[in-house]
Amino acid sequence: MNIFNSLGSNYSKRSGAYSLGSDAKAPARLQAYLKQHYRAPEVYLTYKGREAIALALEQLQLPKGSSVAINGYTCYAVYEAITQAGLQPLYLDIEKNQLNFTAERLSAALKGSPKINAVMIQNTLGMPADIQKIKTLCAEYKVPLVEDLAHSIGMSYSSGQEAGTVGAAAALSFSQDKMIDAVTGGAAVLYWASKIQPNFASAPLGHRFTTRLYPWATWLIRQTIRLQIGRVILKLMKSTKLLPGPMSGAATPAHKLPSWHSHIALQSYGQLPELIAHRQRIAAVYREWLPSTLQFSHDDTAVYLRFPIIVDKPLELIAQLRHYGVYLSDRWYDAPIAVAPRQVLKQTTYKKGECPNAEYVAARMVNLPTHIHVSEKKARAIAEHINAWLESKA
Ligand SMILES: Cc1ncc(COP(=O)(O)O)c(C=O)c1O
Repeated sequence: MNIFNSLGSNYSKRSGAYSLGSDAKAPARLQAYLKQHYRAPEVYLTYKGREAIALALEQLQLPKGSSVAINGYTCYAVYEAITQAGLQPLYLDIEKNQLNFTAERLSAALKGSPKINAVMIQNTLGMPADIQKIKTLCAEYKVPLVEDLAHSIGMSYSSGQEAGTVGAAAALSFSQDKMIDAVTGGAAVLYWASKIQPNFASAPLGHRFTTRLYPWATWLIRQTIRLQIGRVILKLMKSTKLLPGPMSGAATPAHKLPSWHSHIALQSYGQLPELIAHRQRIAAVYREWLPSTLQFSHDDTAVYLRFPIIVDKPLELIAQLRHYGVYLSDRWYDAPIAVAPRQVLKQTTYKKGECPNAEYVAARMVNLPTHIHVSEKKARAIAEHINAWLESKA
């Protein structure tokens, strides 16, 4: 078995990621598709999901320094998007058995201070937030709701509404290892006619080059990892910055989405129902074979970008699984406001102790892969390795 949580996890011959060409009209086609799909008057394509978040927030035209309530267990990119849009994040803690803040926590925060001017949900790892109650609260307090779909493109809430169609705006990410994976990309979906005249600059040429190389480079690394050559290539490419990390790039200003990435994103939308069904089948195997004490609370609508479990010694488990060719060191998330694993924690306004449940989960969570390279048989084998490790610790 040779299974990675990331490193080109979504790419196959069918995914189109290894194709070389695209046509100049692909961005316009993707934009038109997204407008129709989400029935939104405005869609702006961006080079990164964080650019889409910043753009959507800027377009809400909130007073400078306004507070945006967000999940207290999130990615640094979200923090970056909010602060670079001139706003302040207000962290809402999660529960120990679920990865999104609850409506009850939001309600308490809306009653308290500082005043909340916008709310953003993120359906962490494709597990749905309590959207109906959250939407009702936002309407009651007259604050706009933004749906960050970085983990949940294609998910439908239990009301039947598709994620991204409930709030005032949605932000999509098409970056590596996401539901729609075009190596990089994003889109701001706005449910009002905004006045921006997008004249985004192109992203730096070097970055664009490395994103085009990424599917091939990661394929080579995956094929040769067992021979140790893969590790050398990985190190070399990282040190020479030829391998774009998921955290590279700022949230403002927004940049154009090139045609190749637009083409791949559009193609992936066509395969999305099938890809989601696959992820849900793999999650069902983990749910069946792993002890329920390791699992988070399940919702049938979850699309499981990854399947989260909680263990006391996550690094030990990750090291153990590596012996079987299962590489899970890319943890989402190992801190309440997480940067890429093992990187120095960047400075944020998060204060230790602010979200104790997020800290508890961050210290223990491991994500299991659900992507196309994991079959039901492999998922069961992964579950059995985990169970054997648990028994050895008992
Ligand atoms: C919840 C969440 N939102 C937004 C983003 C930003 O996406 P991107 O890397 O496309 O900027 C991430 C990054 O992984 C994320 O985890």
